[in-house]
Amino acid sequence: MKDRAVGIVGAGNVGMAGAFAMLAKRVCMDMVLVDLNEKRARGEALDLMHGQGLVGRARIRAGTFSDLETCPVVVITAGASQKPGETRIELLHRNYQVLSAIARELDTHCPDAVCVVASNPVDILTHMLQELSERPKEKVFGTGTMLDTTRFRSLLGQHYDVNPRSIHGYILAEHGDSEFAAWSTVTIGGRPILNNEILGKPYDRGELEALFGRVRGAAYEIIEGKGYTNWAIGLVIAELVSILLNDLKSVQPISVRLDGEYGLRDVCISVPARIGRHGVEDVVELDLIEEERMQLEHSAQLLKEVRAPLSRLEGGDGHG
Ligand SMILES: NC(=O)c1ccc[n+]([C@@H]2O[C@H](COP(=O)([O-])OP(=O)(O)OC[C@H]3O[C@@H](n4cnc5c(N)ncnc54)[C@H](O)[C@@H]3O)[C@@H](O)[C@H]2O)c1
Repeated sequence: MKDRAVGIVGAGNVGMAGAFAMLAKRVCMDMVLVDLNEKRARGEALDLMHGQGLVGRARIRAGTFSDLETCPVVVITAGASQKPGETRIELLHRNYQVLSAIARELDTHCPDAVCVVASNPVDILTHMLQELSERPKEKVFGTGTMLDTTRFRSLLGQHYDVNPRSIHGYILAEHGDSEFAAWSTVTIGGRPILNNEILGKPYDRGELEALFGRVRGAAYEIIEGKGYTNWAIGLVIAELVSILLNDLKSVQPISVRLDGEYGLRDVCISVPARIGRHGVEDVVELDLIEEERMQLEHSAQLLKEVRAPLSRLEGGDGHG
């Protein structure tokens, strides 16, 4: 149990949804919660521990960064969450200082851990942590569009009246406003949905684009209603931790640093990647259609523009 402890930095709405999903799905029964608000972390740990009668023996405790020494995986969910109407990019400056401090602590106490970044704007913060941390880049990745992709598959499942797990396909690029639905990748039972009638539903591009609009606007819609989003990202976190702890070598759309794949470099952006025990192992290069390739390039360009002032802060050359 000891070498499978998972650290969660930020015991807020997202961190605790991740912790709860991990416990309920028995992905991990040993967790350390690190939060500036120690009192809250202690309360959350105690609350979760009371589930042991139903899920089995668990060890969940509030701690400090020095308690992360044995953790092979650390999930970063610290930071301010999006306010109503605020874009993820606007969150950037509020979260920059937070991440700088965390990076130093992680390198001191758990230099070998794989770090999964969920805090927003996730692509920018993933890139930033890769720069600030000494660990290999493949040991730092972001949840990226994995959340958007599960939202997408969920809505497609309703539309086609089919189990979303029978639907494959991706939302790619920025986890944010410039993301896009890679329609050419979407299949149900192996049949592409582009231009095809499937399960009695005719192909209707307008209806499907409206569905994607609901995916892209989901965070805004949820935040308008309850002030934050947490449950689905909690399930994403549990899935990623399970892949890492069990070396599952699953392919997921996560935010990774590209190094020539898709003709892009020096940008963290979501594309399908294989994940194993040590982090990101490889990137899958999809045969995107021309329109999709251009959307990916456009999104990468936007992310680079947002990052440019930050790379100067980090002492970089401003072109990262
Ligand atoms: N990647 C995704 O798909 C996704 C989805 C939803 C939310 N988010 C992001 O997750 C982040 C957290 O959202 P939330 O709703 O849980 O916010 P929250 O305010 O509920 O929780 C954040 C927690 O981080 C803690 N914290 C701040 N600075 C810290 C530090 N230096 N060290 C340790 N703890 C620190 C705070 O005390 C707080 O408890 C936000 O950036 C949000 O935008 C990402």
